[in-house]
Amino acid sequence: MYTSFSLAQYDEATAFIRSKISQTPTIGLILGSGLSPLADAIEDAVRIPYAHIPHFPVSTVEGHAGQLVIGQLAGVTVCAMQGRFHFYEGYTPQQITFPVRVMQRLGAVSLIVTNAAGGLNPSFRAGNLMLIEDHLNFVGMGGNHPLYGPNLDAFGLRFPSMTRAYSPRLRTLLLAVAAELQIPVRRGVYAMISGPSFETPAEVRFLRLAGADAVGMSTAPEVVVAHHAGMDVLGISSITNVAVDTVDSAADTTHSEVLETGAEIVPRLTRLLVGVVGKMKD
Ligand code: HPA
Repeated sequence: MYTSFSLAQYDEATAFIRSKISQTPTIGLILGSGLSPLADAIEDAVRIPYAHIPHFPVSTVEGHAGQLVIGQLAGVTVCAMQGRFHFYEGYTPQQITFPVRVMQRLGAVSLIVTNAAGGLNPSFRAGNLMLIEDHLNFVGMGGNHPLYGPNLDAFGLRFPSMTRAYSPRLRTLLLAVAAELQIPVRRGVYAMISGPSFETPAEVRFLRLAGADAVGMSTAPEVVVAHHAGMDVLGISSITNVAVDTVDSAADTTHSEVLETGAEIVPRLTRLLVGVVGKMKD
């Protein structure tokens, strides 16, 4: 799946948003499943429905409101995506990442990405937070890569490195802020699968063997595109459920469980993000 966007199209969307706001966002924020209420912490907000923005896709899934929220968080101007686009909805990787490039053109130098994920690491529990240190982009590795197609040199290199896709500086900062606020944070590798089905138990065991600690249906495309464009990326997973690893289990993963645990995590994640955003301007 592939869509081609020109620089002019990114700039049209950027110009439209700029015409609605008076301050330049320096941090982009993507809110995952069940985490949309986090945008309520943004003050003096301007809200722009995706449907109004030229070339923006429109989100369809429950738990994703579908608007940009631009305003103040911890004294920093942020641009939050309340609702993101998923591959399983039928969007191409280029559509999924369109807003990331627009945020970069708007002036965002960092991107904070959140998601809901299933815990693969046997020590993880529902309700944990995980700092993403690295990812396995199964969708990208399978050919649905967001940088597939002609390279736009205005954003970055044809063959970008992904060694430090998740900024070492922001990872260190996040752990320091979490320790200060006494919010426990796990660390690990996030595996992106296409979805929309949750994993089979065999797939869960395979992902564990591959080195993944958490699994979800988002994030990797946005992170690749942000890092390609030189943005500093911070990624945090809400472990909303523990992935089921045996066919003999009576347990099951459901979307409502994901949304419910996500909602429980919101206050803690909000405190953590407010703390980290406040320190990112230093
Ligand atoms: N698997 C995939 N995606 C998810 C999960 C899961 O267990 N939980 C939340 N998003």
